[in-house]
Amino acid sequence: MQTTTSRRVALASDHAGVALKDALKQAVEALGHTALDLGTHTDASVDYPDFGDKLARTILAGDAEVGVAICGTGIGISIAANRHKGVRAALCHDATSARLSRQHNDANVLALGARVIGAEVAKDCLATFLATEFEGGGRHSGRVHKLG
Ligand code: RB5
Repeated sequence: MQTTTSRRVALASDHAGVALKDALKQAVEALGHTALDLGTHTDASVDYPDFGDKLARTILAGDAEVGVAICGTGIGISIAANRHKGVRAALCHDATSARLSRQHNDANVLALGARVIGAEVAKDCLATFLATEFEGGGRHSGRVHKLG
């Protein structure tokens, strides 16, 4: 199912993802959502776990409904975010994965690899992720519940 509900979207990246984060921040606003930029803000080297943690804490505190996590591959920052109970970060490389991460997994963080996918594919992932609702129902709800 598609949704047009406006959301608060927190974005966080390490230095490898800062340019893509800035592009996606604009895309978030263009789609009618509110962007909360958690950094980093320059290409000076930083550690992705710090930004995955910051993003997860922001969502768990209720300061944003969903998040976008970006590093070079998307792997490190998604691992960091997923260490927090209640965060479901999905590393996506295409819009189909982004759609299914919402429909089946109720993902609340979209993780992207800035060195792996292009900006247009990333924007497609973002738009799809934000527009798609969790299907719920016994099957998917039960599985997501088991994730803790
Ligand atoms: C930084 O060089 C790189 O290791 C990081 O962005 C990410 O790809 C780690 O998973």
